[in-house]
Amino acid sequence: MILSIILFYKPTSSSWRTLTFLAGVVLGLSKGGRTIKTRVTELLGIEYPIIQGGMAWIATAELAAAVSEAGGLGIIAAGNAPGDWVRAEIRKARELTTKPVGVNLMLLSPHLEEVLKVVLEEKVPVLTTGAGNPGKYLPVWKEAGIKVIPVVNSVSLAQRLERAGVDAVIGEGMEAGGHIGTETTMVLIPQLADKLEVPVIAAGGIADGRGMAAAMILGAEGVQLGTRFLCAEECQVAPAYKEMVLKAKDRSTVVTGSSTGHPVRVLKNPFAQQFLELEAAGTPPEELDKFGTGRLAAAVRGDVKEGSVMAGQSAALVERIEPVAKIIESLVSECRALLPSSGF
Ligand SMILES: Cc1cc2nc3c(=O)[nH]c(=O)nc-3n(C[C@H](O)[C@H](O)[C@H](O)COP(=O)(O)O)c2cc1C
Repeated sequence: MILSIILFYKPTSSSWRTLTFLAGVVLGLSKGGRTIKTRVTELLGIEYPIIQGGMAWIATAELAAAVSEAGGLGIIAAGNAPGDWVRAEIRKARELTTKPVGVNLMLLSPHLEEVLKVVLEEKVPVLTTGAGNPGKYLPVWKEAGIKVIPVVNSVSLAQRLERAGVDAVIGEGMEAGGHIGTETTMVLIPQLADKLEVPVIAAGGIADGRGMAAAMILGAEGVQLGTRFLCAEECQVAPAYKEMVLKAKDRSTVVTGSSTGHPVRVLKNPFAQQFLELEAAGTPPEELDKFGTGRLAAAVRGDVKEGSVMAGQSAALVERIEPVAKIIESLVSECRALLPSSGF
């Protein structure tokens, strides 16, 4: 069996990377090593290739610092918040951990320019970006030594951004919570791994060590989770929001906004129902956008009937509220237990 793999295996650059990564994990295990080393952990100076996704109004200093402290990379989400708020969260996170914490930028934020000033002044080490193409800002960020990791949901955007000089990409499948693309994680990640030289981080539908191991086998060198971290003790979202995530089963999420060109995955509730009815009735996109404005913030405060309770399909896999350290520990130990037995 092993001989036939050696004789007939034709490595592509990504499958070769996957094999060497898996061999590294196995060797690390046999040496009793604690960290999982990939190009992502090297790039970011973290112990485990686990990133907490930026989540507008939700990913605050408390959550981000806890994830970094536990060996992953915590991210403060700037969302639509003003620069002063972002600065205060960065400083709060620095009181809670000495490890690196990143910031997620929403490129359509009305406060983007002031937030950009803040991240440069505060010397934020890592930026992730959602909703759009950060290409025009890259020269300034690279000059400042910032690691830039955009979220992408297509191969073509990922390739454009690689040419522009990003350090890695987060490939996000449509299983994810919040704003989504059209491709699934299962098919997007191997394509990105095949087509890119920079490391790929997988997001969308990953909630436990099985998902993490699967993503690594698909060619990812790290994972980003949002939905699972919604139910972290340190996550400041309202208890009613966490309850809805815990109660979710398969088919508990729907996608609102497909007709506006801004599809968003949310948990089913009266707001989502009404939104879908308005879409089915042919309501113009501007009216729908107005109808949806402020709804995530409302849900975060606890209005889980009229708010937009964004969460991914993986909500069905989230079973309890627990500290971030425990979440990371279980992801790592499950992933470790699975990889050596995967047959590679
Ligand atoms: C409530 C919520 C809010 C989100 N807000 C943002 C955001 O502001 N910026 C961003 O880049 N991604 C955002 N995302 C996506 C996450 O960062 C992450 O990529 C995604 O949750 C991963 O998929 P999962 O939900 O299956 O774990 C959000 C996701 C959720 C669940």
